[in-house]
Amino acid sequence: AVLVKKQMKKSGKWARAMAIVREFQDKCDSSIGKLRHVADAMTAEMHAGLASEGGSKLKMIITYVDNLPNGDEEGLFYALDLGGTNFRVIRVHLGGKKDVIKQELEAVSIPPHLMTGSSHELFDFIAAELAKFVGGEDENSHPFPGRHRELGFTFSFPVRQKSIASGTLINWTKGFSIEDVVGEDVVGELTKAMERVGLDMHVATLVNDTVGTLAGGRYYNPDVIAAVVLGTGSNAAYVERANAIPKWHGPLPKSGEMVINMEWGNFWSSHLPLTEYDHVLDVESMNPGEQIFEKMISGMYLAEILRRVMLRMAEEAEFFGDMVPPKLKIPFILRTYHMYTMHDDTSADLKVVGNKLRDILEISNTSLEMRKAIVELCDTIATRGARLSAAGIYGILKKLGRDKVRDGEKQKSVIALDGGLFELYTKFRECMKNTLKELLGEEVSENVVIIHSNDGSGIGAALLAASHSQYLEVEES
Ligand code: GLC
Repeated sequence: AVLVKKQMKKSGKWARAMAIVREFQDKCDSSIGKLRHVADAMTAEMHAGLASEGGSKLKMIITYVDNLPNGDEEGLFYALDLGGTNFRVIRVHLGGKKDVIKQELEAVSIPPHLMTGSSHELFDFIAAELAKFVGGEDENSHPFPGRHRELGFTFSFPVRQKSIASGTLINWTKGFSIEDVVGEDVVGELTKAMERVGLDMHVATLVNDTVGTLAGGRYYNPDVIAAVVLGTGSNAAYVERANAIPKWHGPLPKSGEMVINMEWGNFWSSHLPLTEYDHVLDVESMNPGEQIFEKMISGMYLAEILRRVMLRMAEEAEFFGDMVPPKLKIPFILRTYHMYTMHDDTSADLKVVGNKLRDILEISNTSLEMRKAIVELCDTIATRGARLSAAGIYGILKKLGRDKVRDGEKQKSVIALDGGLFELYTKFRECMKNTLKELLGEEVSENVVIIHSNDGSGIGAALLAASHSQYLEVEES
């Protein structure tokens, strides 16, 4: 009788835990109808953000990039990529005719205390790493005697651009929070830090990583019209017709085009399938009320959502035994690369899941049933994120009128993707691609291609530095 009682008690808790899972799954609904609403909202917000400054949660930032690389760029350029957990320095030798020789310093992870410290500390650290890289160069790596080295600065945060090579930080995202940089010209800050370490370099361009990815993609493929980054954060940039930007009062660019940095991470719509876990995650984050779309789809947050659901199961259904595992209470202890390793576990007994739970969260003795439930949660969270990303891309294609086949003409639309989440989380990537096909329908999806623009953002910044170099001969007009 005792055994039966114990069993019943256990199954009661199990049922409670499963109810938590089911309820969460219901709220994560990303049915095709829902996605169409999200995509329509994205298109509508794009219009609103282009109409006026502050017209939408989508900032739709004018980048001053009105010309994308075409493959003829030449010379020696540097790129500095700051924006996620790492930063990188790259040297690119462009030989024209799409000939690129790239040398790269290994990615340096940014010490966490610098992400929330002072402006000086962060930029001094970057300038010092940059100086180390340049200092180790042989004499052949200097462009020309008497000339500065030229740098493309990829700074992946929302920046109000003042020109192609200057702009002020609007706000931080992705766990950065350095108050004294907000409102400042980030190129000015970098330049001052470079002067402090005696580094002779000139910042030729300031770009977002999505804009770099777009430039890097276009360099190899003229049909690239948009770029999406799915990494620590998420964002998109695309090529807009300049006369479709009511808030642009400058001269019409010769190309008639302007690259727009959407900052889609800050997208919000009442159609988004938000749950109570998303709500609390947001409230407790460094930027409450902001980057809601990003918090549902990007690498910084996916595993944190998972942790929160698991914690609820532990607290309310004793899912991991009578005690709530202490490590499970630590925000961001679970990372998205842990999550996809678990999600990808193909072993019959889900050994990898068991090991991760033990190593990261100090939860041992899980049953196969429990491990299966956790994989199911990974799937729910990744699927929602991937499907919403696809809806975002579909929204851009709709804005550009590329969601339909026009007059039988087969216009190719290539979208350059980059970022660790896209590269490494296979199930996420495949789900995103399949969902985009589902949204577009068979006929149109033949003309929409997703490519991986490997390290586009680094190379792209160097390419844009090349086409905007101060040493370019001024074209006669
Ligand atoms: C965040 C930043 C954005 C960047 C994206 C991807 O959303 O605000 O500027 O492009 O992350 O790195």
